[in-house]
Amino acid sequence: MSQNDFSAELLKRAEHVEEILKKYLPKEEGYAKTVIEAMNYSLLAGGKRLRPVMMLESYKLFAGDNADEAVVEPFMAAMEMIHTYSLVHDDLPAMDNDEYRRGRKTTHAVYGAGMATLAGDALLNFAFETAIDGAARGTKLASYDGDTDNRYFAALKILSKKAGIYGMVGGQCADIMAENATDVPKDKMSDILSYIDENKTAALIESSLMIGAILGGASKDSVSAMEKAGSCVGIAFQIQDDILDIVGDQAEIGKPVGSDEKNNKSTYVSLNGMEAASAKVKELSEMAEEILKEQGFEDSFLGNLFDSLIYRRK
Ligand code: IPE
Ligand code: IPE
Ligand code: MG
Ligand code: MG
Ligand code: MG
Repeated sequence: MSQNDFSAELLKRAEHVEEILKKYLPKEEGYAKTVIEAMNYSLLAGGKRLRPVMMLESYKLFAGDNADEAVVEPFMAAMEMIHTYSLVHDDLPAMDNDEYRRGRKTTHAVYGAGMATLAGDALLNFAFETAIDGAARGTKLASYDGDTDNRYFAALKILSKKAGIYGMVGGQCADIMAENATDVPKDKMSDILSYIDENKTAALIESSLMIGAILGGASKDSVSAMEKAGSCVGIAFQIQDDILDIVGDQAEIGKPVGSDEKNNKSTYVSLNGMEAASAKVKELSEMAEEILKEQGFEDSFLGNLFDSLIYRRK
């Protein structure tokens, strides 16, 4: 697939995700209207929609191209809600204190820190309302060889675990703790950074690929393989994010450059330099593509997507 064809196809898939997301948005009414407006403001601000795109691709790889998307749609919407909540809180004055996100003012800059905090909480909760409702209404799926034979329960378990202390929240904790960490030896910092990148960023990407696979009919072993692929591509994704925080173009990335330096963050780039960081992104992305091949998915759109992230500019 040529670069142009791929970009056009990715855009089409992101628009498809957006249409799905719109079906699940809460109605802006009642005395909670302001917080719901803040939720929808954050959700509809744009964004690459990569996690739900990956979830759907993973689902289709295992279930087949013509499988019923209704099974996975509520989980796709839930994932984007959780990811968006993580961004709303990440930007708060008490965290990274950033003014721009997805090309517009951050949620707290528009609605205030209190309402942005609530919008984040509400997005997380609404994600579970959405996914559980989808699971409750979903068509019956073939049994699973994991720790529950019910594929919806297995998917919900991954969704909750990878967003929490054993995932994104855990990584964000270590990220804050590593600010201003000038006296930590390099090998120790390298260890901490692996934990940060694996958890704050890779966890939700792993979750997306795993949920798609579980609902798509994959075996437990294949779900583990997708987790490993998600770990590689997720860590690469964060390292590239750290690179773009230095050399990116604000108009393109839709958020400020220099945020990490402003907050004295420790990143793969600050520890190992730009060249090593770019090489690592490539190495990890290729590992993820290799895992897909081992699963029998040669020349998949998902593989092309992993590859494209190596050189992403936004
Ligand atoms: C930004 O994620 C936060 C990180 C984990 C690096 P994205 O780069 O996927 O952000 P959006 O969804 O496109 O805005
Ligand atoms: C945050 O990493 C990842 C999240 C869990 C939100 P960053 O703080 O580097 O993300 P950006 O650069 O603000 O999107
Ligand atoms: Mg951050
Ligand atoms: Mg940030
Ligand atoms: Mg960043």
